[in-house]
Amino acid sequence: MAGEIRTTKKVFVIGIGAGNLDYVTIQAINALNRVDVFFILDKGQQKSDLARIRKEICERFIEDPAYRWVEVPDPARDTSDPAYMPDVASWREKRAAIYRSLIADELKEGECGAFLVWGDPSLYDGTLPILERILAEGPVVFEYEVIPGISSMQALAARHRIALNRIGEAIQITTGRRLAEGFPNNVDNVVVLLDADMDLQSVPDDIDIYWGAYLGTEDEVLVSGKLKELLTDIEQIRRAKRAEKGWIMDTYLLRRTTPDEEP
Ligand SMILES: C[S@@+](CC[C@H](N)C(=O)[O-])C[C@H]1O[C@@H](n2cnc3c(N)ncnc32)[C@H](O)[C@@H]1O
Repeated sequence: MAGEIRTTKKVFVIGIGAGNLDYVTIQAINALNRVDVFFILDKGQQKSDLARIRKEICERFIEDPAYRWVEVPDPARDTSDPAYMPDVASWREKRAAIYRSLIADELKEGECGAFLVWGDPSLYDGTLPILERILAEGPVVFEYEVIPGISSMQALAARHRIALNRIGEAIQITTGRRLAEGFPNNVDNVVVLLDADMDLQSVPDDIDIYWGAYLGTEDEVLVSGKLKELLTDIEQIRRAKRAEKGWIMDTYLLRRTTPDEEP
């Protein structure tokens, strides 16, 4: 077709699971073995632990160690800014600029690059919108493919041996920040990610919690039962673990003990 720009650059966005090397799927392993260059954005203690797990995955699953790493610092986000969305937008802009130059400068024609995404790329991860934005803005051209991974939400459910909902019920997936605005009406099951503060003041009384930190890793902690009885304990575990490791990553399901009646 006239004017069509052809490329032989390929980018994999590979979901690597949320913490356990055994979460890596066969599809991910097949993709990992095609990659020439891995792009890593590094930041702080948490990120260096996560970067180490990414490297372990490559060492364990890639047969020919001829691949290379390109590590760049992750642009810091201003988490003190209460205007959360604008901050995310400017952070994504900075990330887009970094990804664009990585693909333009570090990936040769005919090569495969990869971003290893924690958990699954569909859940609270900016990689896919950023790649779409780069393609829309040009001039960098590449193909990309997405490999799903086991998310923290799935790991949480498996480790607690529960389904995320009871028969026919809705599930809402949200952030700690949004939950602090109020527990959603007409939903019996709420999965919460990205919760720095665990502000559960607005949560009704009749709630069970299924909480998991560092899921899939050797530091994993699981707690489940009545929220009212467990909240203080969970807060204390969070403080202690955060002090010990320097960071915490946790996810939880809140479930109404008595389901809402259908209207
Ligand atoms: C930016 S989101 C990314 C989610 C990821 N894409 C996924 O599929 O799980 C990061 C949040 O995921 C949750 N999370 C990720 N890995 C986790 C783990 N191993 N244990 C507990 N929570 C985890 C935490 O709520 C954390 O704040």
